[in-house]
Amino acid sequence: RSIRSAVTRGTSHLSRRGYGTEPVPERKVAVLGAAGGIGQPLSLLMKLNPLVSSLSLYDIAGTPGVAADVSHINTRSEVVGYQGEEQLGKALEGADVVIIPAGVPRKPGMTRDDLFNINAGIVKSLCAAIAKYCPNALVNMISNPVNSTVPIAAEVFKKAGTYDEKRLFGVTTLDVVRAKTFYAGKAKVPVAEVNVPVVGGHAGITILPLFSQATPQANLGDDEIKALTKRTQDGGTEVVEAKAGKGSATLSMAYAGALFADACLKGLNGVPDVVECSFVQSTVTELPFFASKVRLGKNGVEEVLGLGSLSDFEKQGLEGLKAELKSSIEKGIKFANQ
Ligand code: NAD
Ligand code: LMR
Repeated sequence: RSIRSAVTRGTSHLSRRGYGTEPVPERKVAVLGAAGGIGQPLSLLMKLNPLVSSLSLYDIAGTPGVAADVSHINTRSEVVGYQGEEQLGKALEGADVVIIPAGVPRKPGMTRDDLFNINAGIVKSLCAAIAKYCPNALVNMISNPVNSTVPIAAEVFKKAGTYDEKRLFGVTTLDVVRAKTFYAGKAKVPVAEVNVPVVGGHAGITILPLFSQATPQANLGDDEIKALTKRTQDGGTEVVEAKAGKGSATLSMAYAGALFADACLKGLNGVPDVVECSFVQSTVTELPFFASKVRLGKNGVEEVLGLGSLSDFEKQGLEGLKAELKSSIEKGIKFANQ
């Protein structure tokens, strides 16, 4: 509500409601893996988010320092650091949103699936704790391979009897962020105005940007679209190679993770028309999990939106990704049920 509309209602309204602003609800956000390459800048960005009232920073090591540092920033949220498994319950209790960037990152020459052996176990144990301490939280899964870690989380929650498909999200926002940046550069349009849906999953060819739906529209040739698609699919590898053994995307991922968590918080707070792409339980294709546009609301996923019309190139990409995505999903389900 603008100040002007509040003023036209009279000063009694102003004094009662304080310039017409609604009270912002209390929201606790927990970051698991908060001392890591993503975790630290993500914690910083969540500290800057006025929708957060309590920020809980958990890791197996290093969180007292990160929490002390971030806590000095003069913004709304109270920050508490938790270190070690015995403090995980306290870190999670009462959380509305749990963001998980815990686990090992890639080195050059590795695929995301090469991280499975270590990260699957980490995600499984963190999700068991979420089921116990904050079963109603929205879970934002960043840990790779997302195509498998999301199904692992779903299975852990099912076993605990707490699974709600509306509350589990694989974070694919970085693919959207990249697609927007690369498209704006090629199409020579202002990046802030660009929208590009990215569907499928979050690894190699399973990442399918829909440049035929990109706005503002631009007349790019087939070769340019192919090159943009490949660059988006290989965006993670581009960073892994540039970092030459020192990990994968952390800063752009923190930005993307903060954007997605903000969208979840807005949805919880009842802001209308919050739509982001995310890897969720889905009936958009025959696969049980799939990334597409999702409308966020007070319970998490309000609506999983369809794919819209695809170009022939995108139709081919969609058919081409299904086998790999299916097997990554099945690998996660199998692991969780071992
Ligand atoms: P990192 O090694 O810098 O940080 C990981 C952190 O996780 C470390 O601080 C570590 O102590 C912590 N950790 C390990 N086991 C834990 C546990 N059981 N509980 C809590 N914390 C634990 O790695 P990073 O660069 O921050 O990347 C983290 C993960 O995010 C990787 O799996 C990476 O592949 C993934 N990632 C995903 C995306 C995406 O788009 N979804 C983008 C970038 C990176
Ligand atoms: C990314 O897309 O940057 C992440 O998934 C990290 C990686 O391993 O590429």
